[in-house]
Amino acid sequence: MRTRTRLTLAVVALAAFTSACVSNAQQDSLKPAGPYAQKIYDLYVPVFWIAAAVFVLVEGALLFFVFRYRRRKGRPAAVPQQIHGNNRLEIAWTILPALILAGVAVPTVTTIFDLARKPVGNVLEVNVLAHQWWWEFDYPAEGIITANELHIPTGEPVYVTLCAVGLGYQDQPTPSVCQPGPPDGQPAAAVGDGVIHSFWVPELAGTQDVVPGQANTLVLQADEPGRYSGQCKEFCGLSHAYMKFAVVAHTPEDYAAWVANQTSDAVTPEQGSLAATGMDVFLNGQCIACHAIQGLEDANGNALQANGGPNLTHFAGRECFAGCWLQTADREQLAAWLDNPAAIKAGSWMPDYGLTQDEIDALVAYLGSLT
Ligand code: CUA
Repeated sequence: MRTRTRLTLAVVALAAFTSACVSNAQQDSLKPAGPYAQKIYDLYVPVFWIAAAVFVLVEGALLFFVFRYRRRKGRPAAVPQQIHGNNRLEIAWTILPALILAGVAVPTVTTIFDLARKPVGNVLEVNVLAHQWWWEFDYPAEGIITANELHIPTGEPVYVTLCAVGLGYQDQPTPSVCQPGPPDGQPAAAVGDGVIHSFWVPELAGTQDVVPGQANTLVLQADEPGRYSGQCKEFCGLSHAYMKFAVVAHTPEDYAAWVANQTSDAVTPEQGSLAATGMDVFLNGQCIACHAIQGLEDANGNALQANGGPNLTHFAGRECFAGCWLQTADREQLAAWLDNPAAIKAGSWMPDYGLTQDEIDALVAYLGSLT
């Protein structure tokens, strides 16, 4: 029995260990896909090997002496030569680690400052608003507000300003709340009463905390078009685990097309269609209390800035929703979400409004039409 337990534990440990080696693993910071992630990788690799060498030398020496002077059956343990005080040795093992640490510190500090610098030239600026539990992306220059998917052009640095938003955010008049404060040393503009999150796209950048009342920044960039998975990396409440997002990198041409589509109003469904019924449900029900659809406006007359919930103007153009936990194309998931959000994401701020099956079907048709 004991052997079997040990064997099981060994197999589980081996499986956990080797799972780190799968070639198609997502969110792999060892596969940098842009210059900022590359800088971190280029720092990590030499520091890792220095640490590995120190580990092998120290542990190797330890094992050597344990083995060399072990107690053997029928023989007393060999007693090593006893030394008290050795100036040469002590100076050596004081200076050597100090030199190693200094050698590691110089490139580390240089990289930290390098990554923190705001890039010059062509830079896309995006405000990232961390909600419980989803991400809102606000492009102030383009007039775009979207959710859970950060679209960027390849080959261009993206300077994100990170803000945590809570209930107080609803009273903010414009999306510009996530701007860093004026240069006279005032704090960042009020950003509500949210909680701490952390923004992380391992293949494109390091991680940066999102802190209430403060605007932190981060630079990321993708070399190749693709979809890069990210997630909240700081425990932020019940559905922290479901607070994912994606960075979608396009060629500059594709990105321009995406911007053009995003800035256009939502499509209006054909009269008499199920989607048109869904639009009526949306407008006459509780949806507009929190959600804005460009061309429709929400309950407060906002066309862009939603009132606590994601802007849904181009909902069906996104692959995922609800903190990138659900697939937009999966109508059953969408119906289940509308039926009872908190059953899928614990603590979800979107209430269960007791919608009828007919209302849910109509809303699913309407949301599915918003490309
Ligand atoms: Cu947001 Cu964890």
